[in-house]
Amino acid sequence: MSVPSTLSAAPATSTPPFLPFTRPTIDDETIAGVAEVLRSGWITSGPQVKAFEARLSEHCAGRPVRAFNSGTCTMEIALRLAGVGPGHEVITTPLTWVATSNVVLDVGARPVFVDIDPVTRNLDLDRVAAAITPATRAIIPVDLAGLPVDRDRLYALAHRHQLRVIEDAAQAFGSTWQGKRIGSFGDFVSFSFHANKNITTIEGGCLVLNDEREARLAEQYRLQGVVKSGQDGMEVELVGGKFNLTDVAARVGLGQLPHLAEFTAKRRDLARAYFAQFAALGADRTGLRLPVADFVQSNWHMFQVVLPEARLTLRRAEVMERLHAAGIGTGVHYPAVHLFKLYRRLGWKDGDFPHAELAGRNIVTLPLFPAMTTADVARVAGALMEILLAHSKS
Ligand SMILES: Cc1ncc(COP(=O)(O)O)c(C=O)c1O
Repeated sequence: MSVPSTLSAAPATSTPPFLPFTRPTIDDETIAGVAEVLRSGWITSGPQVKAFEARLSEHCAGRPVRAFNSGTCTMEIALRLAGVGPGHEVITTPLTWVATSNVVLDVGARPVFVDIDPVTRNLDLDRVAAAITPATRAIIPVDLAGLPVDRDRLYALAHRHQLRVIEDAAQAFGSTWQGKRIGSFGDFVSFSFHANKNITTIEGGCLVLNDEREARLAEQYRLQGVVKSGQDGMEVELVGGKFNLTDVAARVGLGQLPHLAEFTAKRRDLARAYFAQFAALGADRTGLRLPVADFVQSNWHMFQVVLPEARLTLRRAEVMERLHAAGIGTGVHYPAVHLFKLYRRLGWKDGDFPHAELAGRNIVTLPLFPAMTTADVARVAGALMEILLAHSKS
């Protein structure tokens, strides 16, 4: 069959495939391992979870670690272990996934938001002391996009005021502080292994604890408060939930961990490429705000820019729509939590935390995942700059 001349004469252009803002990388060995678990006859919590916890503990300098079916429940359990409940206050950031403050409400306590530092986009530690009252029991800092909160200042503050810390390090697996891995020191540390995280179990999370007593209690909270003994003994002394990780999920996590260093290095290289592209394209002239250029401590969970609201004729949704039309996926992480209806009903309002609100309205997560190339980065930066330059107020 002859080729129609119109086709043979067509220019050799091809549309690049759609680039999502993130995508997990799961190797064939892990997929085969999951199949083995599925055939093994034991698919819920069992030997894979135990092995996963042992590896996680190694990652965290030998501290006790327990795995769960989400990061969210690990924070709720940590709050319970810290004795936080009705009448207590917990200080946290309004620029986070709503899970961070929802868990405070879940245990009957009140979140106390403190504005972010607009440069790091993390809790502004300079403002925390002023928010402490006699009812304050804990601080939940969040390492947004994997950029660590200053642990030295955080723990100095916590010790001075005798507060517990529940590190919401959901996004910071693989990040470090002063050469030490996040999770290897400190008080409670919570990680998420949700599908978008740097290391995934599809859904899941883990909690780093201080000692075996806390670890045993965490196990009780994880599964209906049950304690088994001997062949047939069972006792329940507290109200636990249904938070156990399955062996299938744990096997995914076990297959991910050996790639952590390589994934983190790749993410750092891609982040560097974003900075180089934006510098070359003159992003500073548009007022686009880039993240902190930390190539040592951050795991680059996300590459987030803040659009120059005052200088743009487009709203964020329109910028995202145009990027989508150019085959580029983006995300919003996150709208300011205190402006959700639930939180407005509890008394918060517009203007309470101006830095978090500005970021919440204008932050955009650009594509960043280990399987991306620097050519993808150039395409994203180029497309965004083209939109910004074409729609800047003169
Ligand atoms: C900052 C932050 N906190 C908490 C969570 C909750 O983790 P999970 O989705 O595993 O419950 C996430 C996950 O998206 C997160 O990004």
